[in-house]
Amino acid sequence: MIIRTFGDPVLRRKAAPVDRPGASIRRLARRMLEAMREAKGVGLAAPQVGVLRRLAVVDTGEGPLILVNPRITASSGSEVDWEGCLSFPGLLAEIERAQSVSVEALDVEGKRVWVEAEGFLARVLQHEIDHLDGIVILDRARAVRRVPEEEDDDGGEGNGEGPGSAEEAGPGSWPKAAHPLKVAFMGTPDFAVPTLRALVEAGHRVVGVVTRPDRPAGRGGRRMRPPPVKRAAAELGLEVWQGGAREVRTGLADVLAAWGADIGVVVAFGVILPSQVLRTPRLGCVNLHASLLPDYRGAAPIQRALMDGRRVTGVTVIQMDEGVDTGGIIAQQEVPIADDDTAGTLHDRLAVAGAGLVLHALELLAAGRAEPRPQPAGRSVPAPRIGPEDEVIDWGKTAQEIERQVRALDPVPGAHTVFRGRRVKVWRVERVDGPEETGPAREGPAGGTVRPEPGRVVGFDDGCPVVAAGSGAVVLRVLQPAGGSRMSGSDFVNGYRVGLGDRFGGR
Ligand code: NI
Repeated sequence: MIIRTFGDPVLRRKAAPVDRPGASIRRLARRMLEAMREAKGVGLAAPQVGVLRRLAVVDTGEGPLILVNPRITASSGSEVDWEGCLSFPGLLAEIERAQSVSVEALDVEGKRVWVEAEGFLARVLQHEIDHLDGIVILDRARAVRRVPEEEDDDGGEGNGEGPGSAEEAGPGSWPKAAHPLKVAFMGTPDFAVPTLRALVEAGHRVVGVVTRPDRPAGRGGRRMRPPPVKRAAAELGLEVWQGGAREVRTGLADVLAAWGADIGVVVAFGVILPSQVLRTPRLGCVNLHASLLPDYRGAAPIQRALMDGRRVTGVTVIQMDEGVDTGGIIAQQEVPIADDDTAGTLHDRLAVAGAGLVLHALELLAAGRAEPRPQPAGRSVPAPRIGPEDEVIDWGKTAQEIERQVRALDPVPGAHTVFRGRRVKVWRVERVDGPEETGPAREGPAGGTVRPEPGRVVGFDDGCPVVAAGSGAVVLRVLQPAGGSRMSGSDFVNGYRVGLGDRFGGR
């Protein structure tokens, strides 16, 4: 019985209720318990073994529970903790769950049972019922991290308190590749690093790493800074070849041939690969892109999805062709966007989800089971690089648009505005409650209401300035004047003696 891992679409589907538990359900439950124990887990849901029925098995140390058609009838309290999942080996997600739950279900004989659970067991039950609805830990994660190496063997601590208490998984590193490949890795920024590490940990042979040249950094550009992928490669003891567009065009195909790579894995390399390079490895080259292609083709998929207010984005692995982000889709996974996501937090989740998806895609390719499907034509949202015009806050936009822009440009390059001729970066804003359409309106001189001019300070909230937008208003919570450091909105108000009617924006 194989436990399905991320990237497998069965994990994202809703399971159907069991009519009446019979012999086949009993047999399935028994085999799931065996698979769960073998994997050192404490819970397993049927979709995780590819069966879309509402069945889950749980054993947190007090004997096995087999639950058919379980549903939560009551819950209370809330608790934040780290949890793992057998379908996401090596990952821990920080998730807020109810502290206690009442679950109603059938047992394998079809008798009604009730489980009152709190703490760890309550968490496990909520997790398994999520699986039955196609919900996985990444969907609920406030943060995600890899299981630290030293926790690899013994599956967390005690009764599941604290980090490493993988709810379900006996945490391990990335799953071992069934068909290890000789991989040439091509990537440059931080986004690419989790995939490089995952390839090594899964047992693929990374025969060499291609990355862009070191770049001048620091004040005056006198120091040279190696790209993050080069630093990770050095740590992993891997051979590195660096080059820009010209070197790639003239020399890379020979390098890949010399390395004897089966496949090229490309993650945010930053140079378009000529067809000669794409054809050199036996299995061609695959690319990990941080969006649900064909949406957000281009250089800034994460920022653009946030700016557009998308609720869901994702990662896609394509078989590369000569176009930019146009190849056939081998695997794709959705990742939800939280209301408070910044480009930074979303980037980190997508990078980890993408690493898992690349491993999944390589398994399919190595086993000859990959079936790249062409991207739907005519439906693509472009994601052009962020330019200076994207960074300036247009106060005539809605409060919602401004709030999204601020999150999309955090941590780089930051949204900015101008106050008394000085550039100010805006790091955190909050939309003011109230009807989005009307925004804060005041009594006009003739008894009617007038809309305040966008950019004007119309009030204060905990000492922070409330600024009118085209519709609605935003509270400026964290600001950074040019040349200064970050400060709270209230410190800014005090430092600059900001008063009602003062204006942000303009010049
Ligand atoms: Ni799970």
